[in-house]
Amino acid sequence: MRVIIKPDYDTVSKWVANYVVYRINKFRPTAERPFVLGMPTGGTPIGMYKELINLYKNRKVSFENVATFNMDEYIGLAPTDPQSYHYFMEENFFKHVNIKPHNIHMLNGLTKDYEKECLSYERAIRKLGGVQLFIGGVGEDGHIAFNEPFSSLTSRTRVKTLTESTRQANARFFGHDINKVPSTVLTIGVGTIMDSAEVMIMITGKHKAEALRHAVEGNISHVWTISALQMHPQGVIICDEEAASKLSPETVAYFKDNEKNNF
Ligand code: GLP
Repeated sequence: MRVIIKPDYDTVSKWVANYVVYRINKFRPTAERPFVLGMPTGGTPIGMYKELINLYKNRKVSFENVATFNMDEYIGLAPTDPQSYHYFMEENFFKHVNIKPHNIHMLNGLTKDYEKECLSYERAIRKLGGVQLFIGGVGEDGHIAFNEPFSSLTSRTRVKTLTESTRQANARFFGHDINKVPSTVLTIGVGTIMDSAEVMIMITGKHKAEALRHAVEGNISHVWTISALQMHPQGVIICDEEAASKLSPETVAYFKDNEKNNF
């Protein structure tokens, strides 16, 4: 695992956006062979999306041949609902760049057939040759996508019930009213994420320090689903100093030294 420690949120956001652009351009995607990018929602990636839009506007990258798969969606929210992840992605990213609608993949929270929706999502990822780079965030309890504590580390796309603490954390997007936060979601599994060629998780802020500590120094455990990243051959965590504040000084020194000559 690589752990890249940057001074603050802005530096993390810019670094990840530049890395995404570097990976897309290096891949030289075509219509027949698009670059497949996994994408997160939440507060953490907003700065990265802003920077990606800047880089697109400055002609550093084109999304014409980029296919995206989002991690999750609330069950029962229409794409036009401002709290849906469809709406989030449209507003924060898709409408600002030249991505083709047929290349955008998101789970349908209004589906009547969950099993079919989840199976066809997995199939669509496979059909495009798998995800090249999955960018993610993490919950305070260490969940990736909506894989709450005790999710199987080999799980696939499916329905999940949210924990009270995740609904509480996400209530800030629902007028701070937990009762408005849906209790069920569709989410890709930990196994789905781990199948990606590379997984990069952004972790910023003091409130994520415990999750980061478990991810890097803890045991691999379904209690902190982020810890599955330890099993990935190309797992990267990019974090700020605040999130890294609960790592041991030895761990911090090791990764800082390890990264000093890297991208
Ligand atoms: C939600 C999302 C996750 C995200 C997490 C943290 O639960 N399903 O993908 O990583 O929130 O969000 P934030 O970045 O707002 O802290």
